[in-house]
Amino acid sequence: MHFQWYPGHMTKAKRMMQEDIKLIDVVIELVDARIPLSSKNPDIDQIAKNKSRIILLNKYDLASQQQTNAWKSWFEEKGFFVALVNSKSGTGVKNVHEVIQQACKEKIERDRKRGIMNRPVRAMVVGIPNVGKSTFINSFAGRACAKTGNKPGVTKGKQWIRLNKNVELLDTPGILWPKFEDQLVGLRLAFIGSIKEEILNMSELSLELIKFLHEHYKGMLANKYEIEESEDSLETLTNIAVKRGCKQKGDLPDIDKAASIVVDDFRNGRIGRVTLEFPIFEEKEETEEVDETIKE
Ligand code: G4P
Repeated sequence: MHFQWYPGHMTKAKRMMQEDIKLIDVVIELVDARIPLSSKNPDIDQIAKNKSRIILLNKYDLASQQQTNAWKSWFEEKGFFVALVNSKSGTGVKNVHEVIQQACKEKIERDRKRGIMNRPVRAMVVGIPNVGKSTFINSFAGRACAKTGNKPGVTKGKQWIRLNKNVELLDTPGILWPKFEDQLVGLRLAFIGSIKEEILNMSELSLELIKFLHEHYKGMLANKYEIEESEDSLETLTNIAVKRGCKQKGDLPDIDKAASIVVDDFRNGRIGRVTLEFPIFEEKEETEEVDETIKE
């Protein structure tokens, strides 16, 4: 699903989320494990302040295992509860129940002291388009997808899914808008296919991707396509076109076709498990002070 965002969309999404968040105890925020920061909108920190926060590193099946673990620690350092999930296959999804209980421990304890027993925790899923919110909700709710309907007084018009005696989930996810003002963020979102490809054409996008892979995952393209990887991204792409038999008139290599193949293979994880941004570098870029725990 591709989204075109205008200021009107953002204002509306923000207003809806501010209303919904009043009703819930815990915010379950999905980010894409390949770009955990670029797929995160920091505005949610303000909107969801005072709520328990969970980060789900979704699509971790497509990201580097080592980097995903590093990102998990990075978010935990920042006070989030974190889980790795593959919503498509369901791997790690059940574990989210346990993470919700941990994240809401204080609240449950507070309720207990005030004599409120067995009140289910109310949760809401948020994230940018295409990050996997609907897939996650379907997988998490599974067959126990009984809608509880409106709750008089507080939740007019809202549908809740009662997952078990402990948790209720708002059935519509909150949509966050991507931070595409930053060019690098836009590029990463384009790599994973989450925004329109208008910022770059497919060949340019593929050349940028090849450059990144050569720098950070040397040999991965050579392995996948059985070609020579070159310092020159265009040469690598040409080698892929030749190897894959992508030809245009006059028997010339069809670069555009090869570019689409590379980007499509990448997005579907067929080139390998790749993380596109790393916690150490992000921290250096964003602040003067580098957190020593992240440097290690
Ligand atoms: P959204 O509600 O946040 O907009 O996202 P949605 O659930 O529609 O998911 C967007 C795409 O991401 C879907 O693919 C979905 O299958 C895929 N997806 C969601 N979670 C995961 C995951 O953990 N791993 C992987 N590999 N993919 C995931 P699609 O191409 O739109 O459809 P399809 O491939 O399911 O046919």
